Amino acid sequence: MTHVFVHGGQSLHTIDLAAAAPEQDSARLDALPYVIRILLENLYRHQAWGAAVSDAEIARLWRWREHVGADLPLHVARVILPDSSGLPVLQDLAALRDAVAEAGGDAARVDTRVPVDLIVDHSLQVDRWGDAQAVQFNLGREFERNDERYRFLKWAQQAYKGLRVIPPGTGIIHQINLEYLASVVARQQRADGEWAYPDFVIGGDSHTPMVNALGVLGWGVGGIDAESALLGQAYTFPIPEVVGVRLSGSVRAPALSTDAALLITQRLRAAGVTGTMVEFFGPAVAALSIPDRATIANMAPEYGATCGFFPLDAQSIAYLRMTRGDEAQAGFIQAYAQAHHLWRDDATRGTPDYARVIEIDLSEAEPAVAGPRRPQDRMALGQVPADFRRRLTQPIAEGGFGAEPAPASSPAAIGHGAVVLAAITSCTNTSNPGVMLAAGLLARNALARGISPPAWMKRSLAPGSRAVTRYLDDAGLLAPLAEQGFHVIGYGCTTCGGKSGPLTPAAADAITDGKLVTAAVLSGNRNFEGRIHKLVRANYIGSPAMVVAYALAGRIDLDFEREPLGLDADGTPVMLRDIWPSPGDIAALLPHASQASLYREMYAPEALDSAMWQALDAPRGLHFPWDPDSHYLVAPPFFRNLPQDALADLSQRLRRARVLAAFDDSLTTDHISPSGEIPADTPAGQYLSAAGIAARDFNTYVARRCNFHVMTRATFANIRIKNALVPGVEGGWTTHFPDGTRQTVFDAASAYAADGSASIILAGKDYGMGSSRDWAAKGSALLGVRAVIAESFERIHRANLVGMGVLPLAFAPGQGWRALGLSGAERYTFENVQAGILDGEPIQVIADDGTRQVRFEVTAQVLTQAERQLMSEGGIPAAVLHHFLTPPAAPAGH
Ligand code: F3S
Repeated sequence: MTHVFVHGGQSLHTIDLAAAAPEQDSARLDALPYVIRILLENLYRHQAWGAAVSDAEIARLWRWREHVGADLPLHVARVILPDSSGLPVLQDLAALRDAVAEAGGDAARVDTRVPVDLIVDHSLQVDRWGDAQAVQFNLGREFERNDERYRFLKWAQQAYKGLRVIPPGTGIIHQINLEYLASVVARQQRADGEWAYPDFVIGGDSHTPMVNALGVLGWGVGGIDAESALLGQAYTFPIPEVVGVRLSGSVRAPALSTDAALLITQRLRAAGVTGTMVEFFGPAVAALSIPDRATIANMAPEYGATCGFFPLDAQSIAYLRMTRGDEAQAGFIQAYAQAHHLWRDDATRGTPDYARVIEIDLSEAEPAVAGPRRPQDRMALGQVPADFRRRLTQPIAEGGFGAEPAPASSPAAIGHGAVVLAAITSCTNTSNPGVMLAAGLLARNALARGISPPAWMKRSLAPGSRAVTRYLDDAGLLAPLAEQGFHVIGYGCTTCGGKSGPLTPAAADAITDGKLVTAAVLSGNRNFEGRIHKLVRANYIGSPAMVVAYALAGRIDLDFEREPLGLDADGTPVMLRDIWPSPGDIAALLPHASQASLYREMYAPEALDSAMWQALDAPRGLHFPWDPDSHYLVAPPFFRNLPQDALADLSQRLRRARVLAAFDDSLTTDHISPSGEIPADTPAGQYLSAAGIAARDFNTYVARRCNFHVMTRATFANIRIKNALVPGVEGGWTTHFPDGTRQTVFDAASAYAADGSASIILAGKDYGMGSSRDWAAKGSALLGVRAVIAESFERIHRANLVGMGVLPLAFAPGQGWRALGLSGAERYTFENVQAGILDGEPIQVIADDGTRQVRFEVTAQVLTQAERQLMSEGGIPAAVLHHFLTPPAAPAGH
């Protein structure tokens, strides 16, 4: 099936799936979803290159519908990492080098085997806003705060040969991937000549699927999986169920593409696409621009899918011409895709056969926001005021805020419902010129009518690349946005990742004094409790224009249909509809964002360089010189004290287990491992204080991810986490058994570890949803959690648990810990653990509270042969250490 593809006078090796198709399946190539074709190419090519890929695995993928869940040994073309998850990955590699050297192995073998791009975008905080100096000031603070971490990154840049670092101040990982990094069709020189093959990327951030908009298959993984993939190991992934989503209609004004993305998110969540791969087709697709597709593809984690794929077509090529400015490359990609069955061609070749099809009519999208806690809870604007007022006094347990009634907010006084934070942020939207221009137009139109946000509201604009600033400026919209308080404050995730920085003192004082429930509106895609700002309890996501609209409104419960935003100079009420930009206004400015020169300049090598980065002084050499006094970079303990027989050790420990915490549905990784500020009165804060660090220098959990002491103490310590073992209490508390005392989760876990009890977690549905955050699994493991029993798991976190040797277990369908009458006070014994992991047999659990026993069965959520192997070895750290201590086999050409 190896084929010679000739284009532009060049001959390249490729995989010809049509020629490779088994006899009986050859007619079926066009019926395969495009994502399956890309995965098949991956298997064939790596088999040709000498990797361990069996014919049986390839045969199963041809008949994917019958083999959903079966093991696929994939090899990625490249890995992308933000600094937040990338630093711990590189730190683990540094510790692995040390461990290999200590054990007498060859430390230099520990190196990246595929290209790795690390984009420093997750550490920027909005310290300063509202003036033209904010960009430089915030960047300066970022360098100050992250000095040690960035020096480590510079060391890593010279220590690992395949690593490229995109310095702070450039933009957001997924937007840079879309606009610059993705090759779409990769080329590689090998001993037998040059090869061409589909780009395929995994990223240490859950929004990696954004690049699926450009026909590039990719998805988010935990840092733990990224670690093994970049070491050149096969990345094991189960054959996915592929769901077709047929898009029809078109987005109608006044709705914007973000509203369509929110509609799709809500529909797909409701349809249950968790763990599937979604592929878009249908009459609406051809007209969707790549930025519009990107906004939809970006939200794959919010609808629960691994990715939301748009096959290559004319829109992709037009976008590549614009952003890459390379006609020959665009022509090559089109020719490759057309010759290799990767070109979307429903008209002549028909629609692939999907496991199921979901229909969505884009004309149903209406101006909306999603909130106040979950991205899938979309509401039409008209519903927001009543929903907020209802939740305000509703008990917390029923989804409300349990607040005392108090005067509502007004421009003069901050009350319940005041919008104290308005942030245009997030790769989801800042990559989409249409919605960014709409925000600028709304700001300009409001200015013309004399309408502005109240002074006590914090506002920010964090573009995902410098291209955005340029086209907003060219379109004459940067100035009106700034006049409305939306100055550019830097290039990074900021508020979307919880780095919103301090509120205005007026807002912070009013909230604290009045115990107010206030709101944030952001054009991000995550709004889980405690994520955006610790003082802001109601968080809504919407288009950038919607952020401006709510900023102008000043409160979340304004009824835009009936209430004006304010009065103009003549005393005439100004309604939102009076100043909302028309599609024609937006379209007229789009050419500003479509100039190839813009992207060429922004991504020129000199533009990607940074004087501040260059000026950083960093160590050199194979091994990182750990500083024993550092509280940022502490060598992780994952490669130490590894048991000889991990499965026997796990079985033994699970004979005596205690429930560390019990949760209901939808516990997020943000709850498990928070990313924001480190409160002084938490175990992590106390640890830092004891180390002599002042509270103002604590920095955030993300910034301290390379200090396992902090991160272990942070686990299950989100200020909003609700552990059912301490009803009515928020934060990292639990009940220690059998004495029944209230303790921090960290203290209770330490006490269980000291008395030889394993800790376990009880949970409801979708355990570990939200951001891919390997510390949620690493922290659990370091707390001594050996198993999590949940009704269901989100994909990445489940895989991360396995990666850390923590056993994910599922209750029988219809069962849950509450339904079984468990309280969490019981002592737990697990039987048949080894056979449960290796052979999928039921595992028996006996929960004994001293007066009664509850017996039930659970099943191990260890899904592939590779995962069973990992559990047997005790997780990825033990497995990779073993790998590098095993002498290399004879060269296999791979
Ligand atoms: Fe994108 Fe960063 Fe948010 S990667 S989704 S802007 S945290």
